[in-house]
Amino acid sequence: MTESYNFDDILNRQNTDSLKWDWLNKFLPEAPEGALPLWVADMDFPVAEPILEALTACLDRKVFGYSYYRSEAYLDAVTGWFKRRFDWSIDPESIYYSPGVVPAIAALIRILTESGDSVIIQRPVYYPFTDKIVNNGRNVINNPLKLVSGRYEMDFEDLEEKLKATDTKGLILCSPHNPVGRVWEPDTLKRVVELCKAYGKWILSDEIHGDLTRKAIRHYPLEALCPEYKDKIITCTAPSKTFNLAGLHLSNIILNDPALRKAWSEEVDGRLSIGMASPFAIVSAIAAYNQGEVWLEQLRAYLDDNIEFVYDYFKNKLPEAIVHETEGTYLVWVDLRSYENDPNKLEEKMLKEAKVALDEGYFFGPEGNGFERINVACPRATLNEALERMTKALLK
Ligand SMILES: Cc1ncc(COP(=O)(O)O)c(C=O)c1O
Repeated sequence: MTESYNFDDILNRQNTDSLKWDWLNKFLPEAPEGALPLWVADMDFPVAEPILEALTACLDRKVFGYSYYRSEAYLDAVTGWFKRRFDWSIDPESIYYSPGVVPAIAALIRILTESGDSVIIQRPVYYPFTDKIVNNGRNVINNPLKLVSGRYEMDFEDLEEKLKATDTKGLILCSPHNPVGRVWEPDTLKRVVELCKAYGKWILSDEIHGDLTRKAIRHYPLEALCPEYKDKIITCTAPSKTFNLAGLHLSNIILNDPALRKAWSEEVDGRLSIGMASPFAIVSAIAAYNQGEVWLEQLRAYLDDNIEFVYDYFKNKLPEAIVHETEGTYLVWVDLRSYENDPNKLEEKMLKEAKVALDEGYFFGPEGNGFERINVACPRATLNEALERMTKALLK
């Protein structure tokens, strides 16, 4: 019998060491008691039944010794998923474990660049890209997205100018894009590759949100689209965002270039010793990729409805807001400047008056001033409560 999941149930995540629910104050020190957290990008939904069964079976083994991820079953699960879902044939030899996409990006910046080199990002964008570049002593070069008829697009002229510089070594691509929610079309992605190829630059394609597109929209893995450039394309994938497993710390980094694989092993195993996954992460990834599709399709339908609910809500109650279309991710990017132009005052209104914790637009770069990022991966009742609170504070 096909399992039917109920995403409306409200799970109590308090007192579970949850970053999103219990550690709000560590990152948002002004957060008042009772703030509703729609910030960190994880979901307030239980994971798929086959994953729970795999984790229970792992628990039943009663021993949790050092584990390694590279079994045939593991590699088959990962390659099978991407072949079935995206018609992408990943070479099993190219799959490398990392405890997360962000640690992998940090390691790759260290491997692929030297101190003082520059890396391009496309703001407004997931802020750890900036942190990892800057904290490793490299420079951020911004190729900002531009709004064309209200839709975010890449600025290719500017990108080309920036790729020309000899100290610019590569580009971190966010595909799908967090926070603006774009799922890049094949033509856009091919153009990015064409330009990077012309100047011999690598592309680090962060595709962690690739499984989470709207039902009618398809994500295109960059490597599958441009296999001829695959030695210079590094793809970051993970079951963590898709299946709500972020706390288990497992991602798969696709490295094709033999020299890069060697450099990766020297950094990740040789210098840092962070190349071994937990047994819980391994079994959950195998279960997710082999048996998680039923849950994922039901989740995507629920997210589609939540996103429509947000669009309708703003249209009816806060019609001056500009809500950008979420083609992928479970994040909605809203321009609230018509209600409050000052980003600090907007933050105060949301956090202290509305008691809703969101990722502030300015976290993603100055292009996000006056915007909010709303995580809609929660039961509709929670989402409704957050929107009501926000509306009250904005219309006061
Ligand atoms: C674009 C992007 N990359 C990476 C991550 C986090 O990856 P990890 O938890 O595997 O480090 C996120 C989480 O929100 C994200 O949005």
